[in-house]
Amino acid sequence: MVQLLENPLRVGLQQERTPEPLILVIFGASGDLTARKLVPAIYHLKQRRRLPPEISIVGVARREWSHDYFREQMREGIEKFSDGIGAEALWDDFAKGLYYCAADIDDINGYKKLDALLTEIDKERGTRGNRVFYLAVAPKFFPEAISKLGEAGMIKDPNKTRLVIEKPFGRDLSSSQELNQVVQRACDERQVYRIDHYLGKETVQNLLVLRFANAIFEPLWNRQFIDHIQITVAETVGVEDRAGYYESAGALRDMLQNHLMQLFCLTAMEPPNVMDADSLRNEKVKVIQATHLSDRDLNLSCVRAQYGAGFMRGIAAPGYRQEPNVNPLSTVPTYVAMKFFVDNWRWQGVPFYLRTGKRMPKKVSEIAIQFRNVPLTLFQSAAKQVSPNVLVLRIQPNEGIALKFEAKMPGTELRSRSVEMDFGYGKAFGVEGSDAYDRLLLDCMLGDQTLFTRGDEVEAAWKVVTPALSVWDSPSDPNLIPQYGAGTWGPIESDLLINRDGRQWRRP
Ligand code: BG6
Repeated sequence: MVQLLENPLRVGLQQERTPEPLILVIFGASGDLTARKLVPAIYHLKQRRRLPPEISIVGVARREWSHDYFREQMREGIEKFSDGIGAEALWDDFAKGLYYCAADIDDINGYKKLDALLTEIDKERGTRGNRVFYLAVAPKFFPEAISKLGEAGMIKDPNKTRLVIEKPFGRDLSSSQELNQVVQRACDERQVYRIDHYLGKETVQNLLVLRFANAIFEPLWNRQFIDHIQITVAETVGVEDRAGYYESAGALRDMLQNHLMQLFCLTAMEPPNVMDADSLRNEKVKVIQATHLSDRDLNLSCVRAQYGAGFMRGIAAPGYRQEPNVNPLSTVPTYVAMKFFVDNWRWQGVPFYLRTGKRMPKKVSEIAIQFRNVPLTLFQSAAKQVSPNVLVLRIQPNEGIALKFEAKMPGTELRSRSVEMDFGYGKAFGVEGSDAYDRLLLDCMLGDQTLFTRGDEVEAAWKVVTPALSVWDSPSDPNLIPQYGAGTWGPIESDLLINRDGRQWRRP
């Protein structure tokens, strides 16, 4: 397969590349992710002519489905969760490359059956032995699936086979280390694509461009000018029908250790020398290794909480413990906030506040860089004080960047007020950014690991949150888990975390 050496940020200016013919094998084919994200993303790439005609998909799951039934299910998924099928002829052509194989993840015979089907498809469709194995199964099945793929000899060729692993990668430091060992026994790190869909988001990659393709921000990007940084990922949805998974994950494992940590890394890391997979990932690892919770006393450095009953846009919403299949005495957090410090020259003493929660008033993800106050106040302000400058990177929705600064108010007096300069991604480029899974699946098929997490990086991220996990994982009194009403911005404890420092959470 093609190995990518180019700078991914420059690729847009070069000719668009097309992957070699291959088979994408999806374990967990009857699950939500396959019909909602993965197959629609591949179809979308096909619509955009980014794939060779030989590309084939094999869905693997336990249920006894036929090829045709799988095709119907995928068609429904595309119709429901993306822009639709479009030209029937295109769908017919795509559907011919869809196959299904019923197999048990822990039964080696299933893998042998799958391998035989893949060889047949190679002959029929010219996919030349190239395979991407995508593990879209519950995380507890990762070790079994990886070992069995190894045992069956299906991922032994590093030039022809790749492995995509969904998050969370492990449950804590020791299980992520064990999982990395399982991976190392079965294949080479060059073949491994640990996926975090936040890295596929256009505006997350834009953070790299903002920082490293502009001369004006980098000189200010340090402890001398920045007071603190807030990273918020708020969701309006509750646990939906995912209690089975969520009860064993919670907000720290589901969101903070991966998605928020990635946003943190790209904000805090040093510029890489070149923009290739290893240089970028080396810088990410370095910054995580310098990061720790702000205080040994967890009460001062982190907060966990659960949503209680409340109202979402005026409609009554149940509390987490009343959701279907959730333990009524569950202590699993649906909200976490943490305060990090980074021990290096750039960031010493600058707090990074990270928070994420379900059932918040708004769906919004943003990174807010709050600059220091001016050293001396010379002007009267409409507010009591001159507000410090804030640079807000809006990851979603309304993707863009806003800079808040002071301007003179019209009139005879010299008074200032905060105003905003706003760049809207959609408006500036006249197109919507591509879906995160489109981008990441294509990168994987092209052999570009830049936007995927490396083994040592995941372990380093677990290490940062280990002090919290080791306490929160031990049995706790459900009455002591702070609650926040559905439709509110989190518990009072979370306000205290930041108010104690004389600062406030933003209300995005
Ligand atoms: C997933 C989490 O990784 O990210 C979900 O498992 C969460 O719980 C989702 O809802 C959020 O992603 P996005 O792209 O909607 O912000």
